Amino acid sequence: MSSLADKRILLGISGGIAAYKSADLVRRLKERGADVRVVMTAGAQEFVRPMTYQALSGNPVHTDLLDPAAEAAMGHIELAKWAELILIAPASAQLMAKLAAGMADDLLTTLCLASEATLAIAPAMNQAMWRHPATAANTETLHTRGTRIWGPDAGSQACGDVGPGRMLEPDALVAEAESLFRPQQHLAGKRVAVTAGPTREALDPVRFLSNHSSGKMGFALAAAAQRAGAEVTLIAGPVNRPTPPGVKRVDVIGALEMRDAAERAADLCDIFIAAAAVADFRPEKTSGQKIKKKEDHERESLALVKNPDIVAGIAAREKLRPFTVGFAAETEKVLEHARGKLARKHLDLIIANDVSAADSGFDSDRNAVTVIDRSGSCELPPALKTELAEQLIELIADRVSTQ
Ligand code: PMT
Repeated sequence: MSSLADKRILLGISGGIAAYKSADLVRRLKERGADVRVVMTAGAQEFVRPMTYQALSGNPVHTDLLDPAAEAAMGHIELAKWAELILIAPASAQLMAKLAAGMADDLLTTLCLASEATLAIAPAMNQAMWRHPATAANTETLHTRGTRIWGPDAGSQACGDVGPGRMLEPDALVAEAESLFRPQQHLAGKRVAVTAGPTREALDPVRFLSNHSSGKMGFALAAAAQRAGAEVTLIAGPVNRPTPPGVKRVDVIGALEMRDAAERAADLCDIFIAAAAVADFRPEKTSGQKIKKKEDHERESLALVKNPDIVAGIAAREKLRPFTVGFAAETEKVLEHARGKLARKHLDLIIANDVSAADSGFDSDRNAVTVIDRSGSCELPPALKTELAEQLIELIADRVSTQ
């Protein structure tokens, strides 16, 4: 049974093109047994008519603060007390600014001020608006007050821009809501370090060697570990992703820098999870100036040196050795190669992903993995990385507790 069964969720919808996705969100919340009531701002009603949400939620949609008929049925204070979770999806830049300022000039913002329920927002806006320092400051204010910030995702936007600011997909929002209501704190009292994203190995001031890792898998694991009660340090390669709430983030660029940060974090952690795609090699020399093209050269070669194996170094420790989990990104003989890495790197557990599979692995929102340790293997069905992260953290916590 879903942890959302019988939960009272007030879904706030503010003005934005992503409002159409919230119709699907209502459907998915209802499918999991949640009781959903919808509140729309005036801006939201310009995009989708209230009737759509009324039909899907099975409840009247609330739009006005001063509507006597609505107040007679369920007054706004009653509605604020009714909610166990207020989820605003999409949350526009304007709505976030109003929440950060503590304004109450319409029904939705008034409810947020009047309610003691957990408040979660799913930001959705143009990438420049999301990156604007004013929005960043509002996000920080809301985060500090305990508001859950779910997303945004990055990618192509309705306006034609590309970048962060897309609302998380309904599936991902449902996964966040489910984990919020999931009672178990599998990792309470534990400290977890996670590496995520790629590393960049500089050739000169403008060029580098790297890979397509987006950090989605590692960030999802850090968020899931934090929700499971752990104190989490996230060592992030160069990716443009918001830090999961409550997680300590250390930004790094190259493999050597990631190794140093990982070694420091490993001194203090119980569980180390290496989800980063660390470059195996780096240029032997990094030029201080941009390397000039030699007009008479048709070929050029690069001298590379091996980077240290970060996860193997941590697994090889005699003292202060955390439970050590690696990933294996494979394109063929996935299980065989992953088992080889488990043994060679002396890991406690390895998570094998077939990165050649469609809609899986690098930069995808989804993944398909098999968890392998010395006692056997367990294949998890393809799912969103946010959902897989929950399952993986639960599984890791289980192994740690029976160690
Ligand atoms: O970031 P995303 O876009 O969400 O994609 C997720 C992912 C595909 C990157 C992730 O799920 C994943 O598979 N990460 C490991 C990628 C990788 O580099 O695999 P590998 O087989 O080369 O390395 C095996 C393990 O050793 C990994 O845990 C890796 O972090 C670690 N390693 C590798 C090299 C190195 N020098 N140091 C390391 O610690």
